[in-house]
Amino acid sequence: MKKTITSNDLKNLVNEAHAQVKDLKGGKNANYIPFLDKIDSNLFGISVCLPSGEVIEAGDTNYVFGIESVSKVYTAILVLRQYGAQAVLDKIGADATGLPFNSIMAILLENDHPSTPLVNAGAISADSMVKPVGNSEAKWKAITDNMRELSGSDLKLLDELYKSESETNFNNRSIAWLLKNFNRIYDDPDMSLDLYTRQCSMGVTAKQLSIAACTIANNGLNPVTKQQVFDPSLSPKITSLIATVGFYEHTGDWLYTSGVPAKSGVGGGVLGVVPGLFGIAAFAPPLDEAGNSVKAQAAIKYIAQKLNVNVF
Ligand code: DON
Repeated sequence: MKKTITSNDLKNLVNEAHAQVKDLKGGKNANYIPFLDKIDSNLFGISVCLPSGEVIEAGDTNYVFGIESVSKVYTAILVLRQYGAQAVLDKIGADATGLPFNSIMAILLENDHPSTPLVNAGAISADSMVKPVGNSEAKWKAITDNMRELSGSDLKLLDELYKSESETNFNNRSIAWLLKNFNRIYDDPDMSLDLYTRQCSMGVTAKQLSIAACTIANNGLNPVTKQQVFDPSLSPKITSLIATVGFYEHTGDWLYTSGVPAKSGVGGGVLGVVPGLFGIAAFAPPLDEAGNSVKAQAAIKYIAQKLNVNVF
């Protein structure tokens, strides 16, 4: 693996990846959340952020889309910051489920913990842990402050997405109460579910995601704001969570073929971390059957292969 990547390495490459991938066919917008089904399927952006703070972009990198499951990475970091690595392992876990992101079976199979903060069950559990427990408004402030610190600028709630998702999140409601049954929710289940639904409905750009990805790659130091957002010791923890389950039941295939720990969301965003070297994000709405953006996967693979970077 290369020791450093410069903006010169990336300028043409990011444009080239965009041109190569933009007409790729396949996948469909998420349709179980009505708002996401209506987003233009042709949108496509790639953004790479370097530890120097330089951001190299191509395509629709300033389009604001639903962050969805990529928000799970942010809240996982928040509870790691608030509780430390051991408590997150004890209360939630760090295991792959091998099952879809919204699996109820995964909770029943491993009911001693919700597996990982990066699937729906573990993310709802993580929201329940956010301090101060019992105070929804103050918890939401902690969640959004943490999002801003990681991304370097504010994320804004997409009201229509929040409404669309709140009206259709029956499976997640079951998850919240099933967690309660197993004593794996640490605050009011309905409040925790609402915080989770709201955080998934935040609007983000590919550029913001790439800055957050680089903050993780850069040991918690935001390369743009220069703020030390989290303790460097947490960086390998969060990258290991991402590597283990970032693409749900397709995570092994993804790591085998890309070598880049990455986390997807059904809004079409993917955040990838190459420790010490860069953060990368890509966004395009059509998803494969596991809920991962088809073009974002192709773009990240293209760039990683050309740069010859692979965490393994
Ligand atoms: O809870 C849900 O189903 C959505 N808010 C998020 C799911 C998601 O993004 C899965 N990722 N690929």
